Amino acid sequence: MKHSLVFLFLFVCSCKAQDKGTIIVPPSQTISYLKDVLKFKFGASVNPTLLTGNIAYRNLFDNEFQSVTAENMMKMGQIHPEKDRFDWIKADIIVDAAQKNKQRIHGHTLIWHSNIPTWLVNFQGDQKSWETVIKTHIQTVVQYYKGKVDSWDVVNEAFNDNGTLRSSLFKEKLGDDYLAKCFTWAREADPNVLLFYNDYGQEYAPAKLQAILNLVVDFKKRNIPIDGIGLQMHININSSETGIASAIQKSAETGLLVHLSELDVAVNPSVNENFVYDDQAKLKQSNKFIYVFNTFRKIPTGQQFGITTWNIGDTDTWLRPFKKTQKEFPMLFDENYKRKAIYEGLYKAVQL
Ligand code: XIL
Repeated sequence: MKHSLVFLFLFVCSCKAQDKGTIIVPPSQTISYLKDVLKFKFGASVNPTLLTGNIAYRNLFDNEFQSVTAENMMKMGQIHPEKDRFDWIKADIIVDAAQKNKQRIHGHTLIWHSNIPTWLVNFQGDQKSWETVIKTHIQTVVQYYKGKVDSWDVVNEAFNDNGTLRSSLFKEKLGDDYLAKCFTWAREADPNVLLFYNDYGQEYAPAKLQAILNLVVDFKKRNIPIDGIGLQMHININSSETGIASAIQKSAETGLLVHLSELDVAVNPSVNENFVYDDQAKLKQSNKFIYVFNTFRKIPTGQQFGITTWNIGDTDTWLRPFKKTQKEFPMLFDENYKRKAIYEGLYKAVQL
């Protein structure tokens, strides 16, 4: 009954369109889910408040995505608020919901220079006791989620854009080789979980990209475990396509899994308060999304870990608070959690 109504509707539309000679844009009921036409997993980062409190958000979470990343709730500040206390509650809301849906869970992130709890900032000790404290953090979290979390961003954002190692508490206290230590501890805690190095800007900072490629070569030489590279892909409508292609292709040349782990396409990169999200901006954004997906599809299938968008709709995009503006619309779903036209464009483009 439902189907025949849709067909009737389309038939009427097409008659009208033929009359006027216009092109029919089919209503969104006629396409299925983007995930159904992709050969890799399509994911999103989520937060537990919206997951439990917003029905439209929850519907998208349940239906559109096959992979889930906690936006903040597995970060050290949230999950390990005191030296001897872990707080799993909020991360578990996400994990339970994802398990119910049989979605893949990607862990984000064990070690990051940002979001460090105060107890750790104030911790005093020699290198040995710092190693114990960090190893305990990594191994407690990895073991707790063993069998539930499929993959971890072990270290996030360790390099500067110029390819040097970023100054951080971890570099300072554990030494320059801290990444190798962290990956080794994670592997000890769960021999089956996939281990990723995650960073941003590989598409505009070739020196950073190279530093990551060098890290992989060095890890392989020393038998340090690493399974994948995460490219955050926080890009905008003006991002260089050559840069995007080079970041994706060179990462794939390592032979590791590649995860576009935090994709969004900002339309108002210079944060203009008079910005209008007009057809021209939408077209550029659409083309950029399509370019990213199609470039990713060209790497060997076995290495296509997936594409994850950072957040779901324009209302919950992290870019609005981060850039202190409401004039940003970087997602595939709008402020009411409805598919945008660019979603439909992407759906069609990735099938060609
Ligand atoms: C962001 C979250 O989206 C914000 O809610 C939070 O205030 C700061 O962190 N790169 C990352 C993510 O690896 O963890 C960041 O997430 C966005 C940039």
